[in-house]
Amino acid sequence: MSRFDMLNYIDGQWVGHDLEKIKVTNPATGELIGTVPNGGEAETQLAIDAAHRALGDWSKRTASDRADLLRTFFNLIMEHKQELAELMTLENGKPLKESLGEVDYAASFIEWFAEEGKRVYGRTIPGKRENHRIKVIKQPVGVVAAITPWNFPAAMITRKLAPALAAGCTFIVKPPEQTPLTALKLAELAEQAGIPKGVFNVVCADPESFSNKIFSDMRVRKITFTGSTEVGRLLMKKASENIMRLSLELGGHAPVIVCDDADLDQAVEMIMASKFRNSGQTCICANRVYVQSGVYDAFIEKLSGEVKKLKWGNGMEEGVDIGPLIDKDGYQKVESQVKDALEKGAKCLVGGSGRADLEKDTYFFEPTLLVDMNESMDMMHIETFGPVLPIQKFESDEEAIRLANDTPFGLAAYFFTQNVSRGIKISEALEYGIIGWNDGVPSCAQAPFGGMKQSGLGREGGTEGIEEYLETKYISLSI
Ligand code: SIN
Repeated sequence: MSRFDMLNYIDGQWVGHDLEKIKVTNPATGELIGTVPNGGEAETQLAIDAAHRALGDWSKRTASDRADLLRTFFNLIMEHKQELAELMTLENGKPLKESLGEVDYAASFIEWFAEEGKRVYGRTIPGKRENHRIKVIKQPVGVVAAITPWNFPAAMITRKLAPALAAGCTFIVKPPEQTPLTALKLAELAEQAGIPKGVFNVVCADPESFSNKIFSDMRVRKITFTGSTEVGRLLMKKASENIMRLSLELGGHAPVIVCDDADLDQAVEMIMASKFRNSGQTCICANRVYVQSGVYDAFIEKLSGEVKKLKWGNGMEEGVDIGPLIDKDGYQKVESQVKDALEKGAKCLVGGSGRADLEKDTYFFEPTLLVDMNESMDMMHIETFGPVLPIQKFESDEEAIRLANDTPFGLAAYFFTQNVSRGIKISEALEYGIIGWNDGVPSCAQAPFGGMKQSGLGREGGTEGIEEYLETKYISLSI
């Protein structure tokens, strides 16, 4: 029996009873937990029409009017924290304690951008003649369409939605087919908060039909996407036709450098938090760790003790740290990278085995620690998206920086040192958009999140995050 049969939310209406359904299953048990409509071009069209109609009123409201509604939305999310978190664990598999953390994280974007919307300032610049004045104003981009991923079913929506709405834009999101229920629950709370109809629309739909519509309708002024670099590349091609504004938060392959003067306990704690968050399924997870030779053995001893403590299982159960991988493809990628590393000489100190149940279609992987890694191994070049921590030894800072930067990706990188001048040099040399210095959990609403190179375009969060939803207009005035 399905437990959550939900509908699309378009123009303030719950619609899609008559459509074919997408089945939502629990990745920890394989059970069907709900259904949502499988919309197509017609539903996307309705959402664009609604968002466009709503734009006139929403964009003209004062920033503090919009902030009041966003604040009510934030309060409702916090009141429904437990319910949202349980739904998230059911459809995504992450441990309940992490889902509760994600609700806080998701809500923090709404709280922060509600206030940031009040600080969208223009400028007055001295003119080029005595009777010339230059005014620069900021205006909302217009209708925004978002495509979001399954790994953070709530936060990857609110990180886009909150700045868009605060800036005066209207918003359409297509959530992923694995985790649409959390998105629809957010829409329910937005409706209760009094966000006007058409301002926030959720369209569960077939990805191709959705993107065909949003890229071909000139009323959609911006696309924002979080997901793989492969899909990001396709979206960039599509966006070129109408020269559409684009924000892309794509794949990562985060290196971690542990220097010989690091506080090893701090490094272990932070690397554990970074690597095993969401079972290793985040774009900024520590993907490969380089440890200086003088502390290599001591570090591995401390780290293996911590990895051994992790418990994998159903995220609804007390004490579980590692949930399932999202699907078979994700599982096979992890399995093949571990096999490749072991065949090429890596040693497995903890875990190492997959725990797939093909009958139930569930895919757990044991928290795993691999040591004696080297550059020839796939895991040191390709994002893993699973609970596997590979360690390689290095001698000099130059070598560690070369290894860290030797990738087409540039999202997040981490390093551990107590020496300030060494740290400044390393932080400036790393070609990444986010640097954690003695920190493995850098994400927060007030800081700009985003990558260099093939990890994306634009930033989410911080002052930069609202700029992505604003146009700059120059008014040249003769008086
Ligand atoms: C991601 O994995 O894309 C987001 C991670 C974060 O926001 O910390």
